[in-house]
Amino acid sequence: MRLAITGANGLIGGEAVAQAAGVHQVLALGRGPCRLPPGPYRYQAVDLADGAATEAALLASGAEAVLHAGALTDVDACERDPALAWRVNAGGTAAVARACAALGARLLALSTDYVFAGTAGPYAEGDAPAPRGAYAASKLGGEAAALALAPGCAVGRVAVVYGGRPGARGTFAGQVLARLARGEPVPAFEDQLVSTTLASAGAARCLELLLTLRHRGVIHLADAGVVSRVDFARRLAVRFGLDAGLVVPVRLAEAAARAGLLAWRPPRPGLVVGLAARLLRNAPLTLDEALDRLRAERGGRAA
Ligand SMILES: NC(=O)c1ccc[n+]([C@@H]2O[C@H](COP(=O)([O-])OP(=O)(O)OC[C@H]3O[C@@H](n4cnc5c(N)ncnc54)[C@H](OP(=O)(O)O)[C@@H]3O)[C@@H](O)[C@H]2O)c1
Repeated sequence: MRLAITGANGLIGGEAVAQAAGVHQVLALGRGPCRLPPGPYRYQAVDLADGAATEAALLASGAEAVLHAGALTDVDACERDPALAWRVNAGGTAAVARACAALGARLLALSTDYVFAGTAGPYAEGDAPAPRGAYAASKLGGEAAALALAPGCAVGRVAVVYGGRPGARGTFAGQVLARLARGEPVPAFEDQLVSTTLASAGAARCLELLLTLRHRGVIHLADAGVVSRVDFARRLAVRFGLDAGLVVPVRLAEAAARAGLLAWRPPRPGLVVGLAARLLRNAPLTLDEALDRLRAERGGRAA
């Protein structure tokens, strides 16, 4: 199958390229130069902020299925430049969806638990979105565009993505492991409960949903359960044989104010993933299963 993957240099996009290349005819679309290891895929740089170029690249590819994983995911950068956030996350998704409609290609567009108010999570697919902040609003705009413009499209929401692939951007889990490996203390929010998504597992769910199921509409594709950031950091420490005592609980509001973070961080986001558990062979993992897999992916190395 001809499969196009946007956000190919990213956490989920990169894992999806690695899993699909060689099985399908993969066009990896990313920003700037390719940061993926070489493989049986074709790479093309395209700026999602340029809707016409994005649409043209997809149309020329003749894709039969598109995993849209590209997005401006830095919530503080989105707050600094909401117009750019909207152009990339809503406008870029609209361009991808228009191309899919023209090609008759199936689309899975990725989104986020941030579309919800984030005060009463975890949230199910049927709960009403109430985005707060530029990132959240632009991602909800992307969801609406995908669902309106690409017939039969699916929107897959994930949360707190992490992984071990070199070249992808830094993550909370990566920072925790690096600091613990250096014997440094790690501050972590004690009052933020999140869902998490191991990038490789999330990518496998995305590909299964996109390529083998006909699911339409929104589906939550994170791993199972919710966990405080403190517990997440401690469980990472334990899994990698590091000192969990170095994890320092901090309060979300105080730490965010001290660090001058621009974007609001929700205390209780998170996603209910029962639908994915029922539909997918690659069911959402428990945190312990995901951390075992992360450890294997990193060859047991924390840093
Ligand atoms: N990361 C999370 O914790 C998280 C949480 C909830 C939902 N999500 C959603 O999950 C999906 C996948 O994200 P991810 O976790 O894989 O994040 P990621 O690692 O930040 O990947 C996003 C990719 O999009 C690319 N991108 C950004 N702006 C672009 C532009 N103007 N043109 C082309 N590409 C551009 C980035 O390029 P560069 O690599 O060059 O920056 C990056 O490779 C996104 O829809 C995201 O909103 C992510």
